[in-house]
Formats: sequence, structure tokens, C-alpha cells
Amino acid sequence: MSRIVYVNGDYVPEEEAKVSIFDRGFLMADGVYEVTSVLGGKLIDFDGHAKRLERSLTELDMAMPMSADDLLAIHRELVAKNGIDEGMIYLQVTRGAPGDRDFAFPPEDTPLTVVLFTQNKPGLADSPAAKKGISVISIPDIRWGRRDIKTTQLLYPSMGKMLAKKAGADDAWLVEDGLVTEGTSNNAYIVKGNQIITRQLSNDILHGITRAAVLKFAREAQMEVVERPFTIEEAQQADEAFVTSASTFVMPVVSVDGAALGDGTPGRVAARMREIYLDEMRKAAI
Ligand code: PDD
Repeated sequence: MSRIVYVNGDYVPEEEAKVSIFDRGFLMADGVYEVTSVLGGKLIDFDGHAKRLERSLTELDMAMPMSADDLLAIHRELVAKNGIDEGMIYLQVTRGAPGDRDFAFPPEDTPLTVVLFTQNKPGLADSPAAKKGISVISIPDIRWGRRDIKTTQLLYPSMGKMLAKKAGADDAWLVEDGLVTEGTSNNAYIVKGNQIITRQLSNDILHGITRAAVLKFAREAQMEVVERPFTIEEAQQADEAFVTSASTFVMPVVSVDGAALGDGTPGRVAARMREIYLDEMRKAAI
């Protein structure tokens, strides 16, 4: 069934949605995005995503195209129009379509392009992958230096996922100067005893909205959170590992570069954090 999507003020069937060939998102990857999950027809951590969107835009000298309340209304309208119970809302804002190709930014009054669409994923929270865990390989992190901005420059993460697939794995972890930065589309963690270890926030990684919530819940559950980088070797010797993102929540990692972690099944801490995250976020969903 065709989706109803949002493009620059209009709700239209996806076949009718149009963006200019001069759009800077298309020509220059000059745009930012957010992915917000939907559980029980409600939005998970909308405020966190709206705040990060504003930060990404500000870092790139773009203004919020509308208020967070107006964005919320569009998210809700799309959930309703498309009958989404479990899934995601994808939002993208680009620097607009100045009518030609030019490296220089267009005049400030050029309207930004705003596109949102739904992804229907029944069973998202009850994912079989979460019960089995995923395998990751390591690849060099050759992305640009502002990974804290959620831009649409996703070619290298896409290549990373393809490299993982070719190697028979599920995803890739990115390594810079011998240390894991994050996953291709998620934040990375290892568990040792009572410690959850994950890289500290900086321009080197995306400041995950799921990461913030999971670390808060971990501290409340008396786990010790240590924000520091770790190596692939350390991960291979950890008790367990996991990744977090808006689309996978907390996903156990059971092997790293072919080495099984623990007994090769999802760890207790990852399973517990997934359960707490889903319970708490469902309660707070709007
Ligand atoms: N990816 N790191 C990277 C590089 C990401 O692309 C993402 C999210 C995250 C996790 O952030 P959050 O918890 O806010 O979703 C970390 C989204 C889901 C995507 O590209 O589809």
C-alpha cells in the first residue's frame, strides 16, 4: 500500500512526492536527518530527537524550519494517516534547492527542504535478532571529523554494512587509532563485570539519543558506566557487548571479528537493558 508522506507542507501519496534535482541534499549531501521510533502508535523520545535536530542544523548554519511542536504534529499526523503501530519516522531537512549547482551556500532566505516518511515495522520491539544477537566485523573509520552532526552523508556507513554482509556478519564497528568509535549506524558498548563501557561524547561519534537513555537507566540500575574508548581486542575479551540506536533499541552483539563473546549468546546485561529501555520508553512515549 502506498504511504502518505510529508513534503514541504503537503501530505501526499509517496508516488506524488517531489524534490528538485537541484536540492542540496541530493547534490551535496547538505542535509541532516533524524529517525524516531514508534511503539504502540506513539513516538519514542521525540524531544531528544527534536533537540538533536536543532543542534545538527545550528552546527551547519541552518535554522529549525518550524517549531518542535509543529514537527511533533507532523510526526503524529503521519503515524495516524499510515496506521503505524510499530516502526519509524524518518525526517530529513536540507539546505533547499537554489535552482542550480554551486558550492557556496544559497541565500539565507532559500527555503529548507523538509521531508518526512514512515517505515512500518510490525514486530520491531520483538525482533528475532535481539534474541540471537548480531555479529560485527571491524573496519577503519574513514568518515569526516564532525560525526556528532547527523548528516545524510551515509555512503561509508552503507559501504561498511556491505563489507559486513560480504564477510557473513551483520554489521561493522568503526576503528580509529586502534579504538572503536561506534557502529555504522549505532553506538557501541562492551560489558565487563558490573561495568558498561562506551566511548565518551565528542565530535568523533554521534550523540545517540538511545545512548543517553540507556546510560541513565544503567546508572539507575546500579551499573557502573565508564565513558572511555576500547579496542577490538578488549571487546573480544569482554563478558558481553551491545549496540544502541533508535531503530534497534539495545541489540546484543555476540561476536566481534569472528571471536565469540562469552558463550556466544546474548548477554544478561544487554537483555536486561533492552527490557528496561523498552518498558521505560513505552511509558514515556507521546
Ligand atoms: N542511526 N551512531 C550512528 C553513526 C548512527 O547513525 C546512529 C543512528 C546512532 C544511534 O543514535 P540514536 O540512538 O539517536 O538512534 C549512533 C539511525 C538509527 C539511522 O541512521 O538509521
